[in-house]
Amino acid sequence: MAVLSLQRQTEVIAAVKHKKELQHLDDAFVGKQLTILLRKKSTKDITAFLNASPRSEIYKKTIKELRALLRRQYGLFRSEESTPHISFEHCPPADIKKKVSLLLQNHSSTSERVEYYPQLYNSLQRITGPIQSVLDLGCGLNPLSLIFWKKIPERYSAYDLSTKEIKLLDQFFHCFQNKNPSFQGKAAVHDITDISFLKQLPFTDVSFLFKMTDILDQNKGHKKTEEILNAIPAHYVVISFPTVTMSGKRMTAPRRSWMEWLCQRLKYNYDIIELKNEIFYVVEK
Ligand SMILES: C[S@@+](CC[C@H](N)C(=O)[O-])C[C@H]1O[C@@H](n2cnc3c(N)ncnc32)[C@H](O)[C@@H]1O
Repeated sequence: MAVLSLQRQTEVIAAVKHKKELQHLDDAFVGKQLTILLRKKSTKDITAFLNASPRSEIYKKTIKELRALLRRQYGLFRSEESTPHISFEHCPPADIKKKVSLLLQNHSSTSERVEYYPQLYNSLQRITGPIQSVLDLGCGLNPLSLIFWKKIPERYSAYDLSTKEIKLLDQFFHCFQNKNPSFQGKAAVHDITDISFLKQLPFTDVSFLFKMTDILDQNKGHKKTEEILNAIPAHYVVISFPTVTMSGKRMTAPRRSWMEWLCQRLKYNYDIIELKNEIFYVVEK
């Protein structure tokens, strides 16, 4: 493949991130997706793109294609407008709960779960026993729900592609740590489809993959979920799915039979927790 200069890559990343819903996406991830997109093109098209002016048709078309690719993986469910601008910097512990509730209620992934968090974590610990360490992959704002745990874990690591959310979580963990000195929280930007990265993470009691499989599998079977499930160094992996459609209707068959067959084939036991709008497979590895 013709060589993509650093200057062109930087230009493309900046252009792609002009769209509001993509503005907080990790640069390295955008760069990686650009390489994937270019690999699918002919040498002639790549050369034309690499030398094209930013005003040319081929340049604009490539930016459009890259945005579409990124939206499918990252941006579809994001509504920046509705996320309140809240910070945990200099946050008195008494304010944490109020801020967390506001944020969770306004985030598309967590809003429908927010009133069920205590039930979720109680049911989960009845299955797994006490949880000391958590790894939350593609975490979004879910780690904020730590405030709903009866007995908080000692260690919580969270990874996502959104620089904005990771920054917020980092502040939140600092705040939370002030209140609970034995707690250790870590939030970082990382692509969780990077299998070698997953494999070198410290072993945890429980890992969360909440509402992630559609994004990971991209309508191409379930190989990616399987690969990630196998690579995660955890005793339990909790995989969740919505049980309402995009239009808010209850699904007639909320269970995911492919998930159950996958566990049977891999010889993993699983339990199920059902909340009003979401089903959780608690997979024991
Ligand atoms: C549907 S949301 C789920 C958020 C959270 N798990 C929850 O259920 O509350 C998907 C999240 O995955 C993140 N994401 C998508 N692809 C990712 C990847 N390859 N690596 C890390 N995070 C990713 C997105 O930024 C987004 O926060």
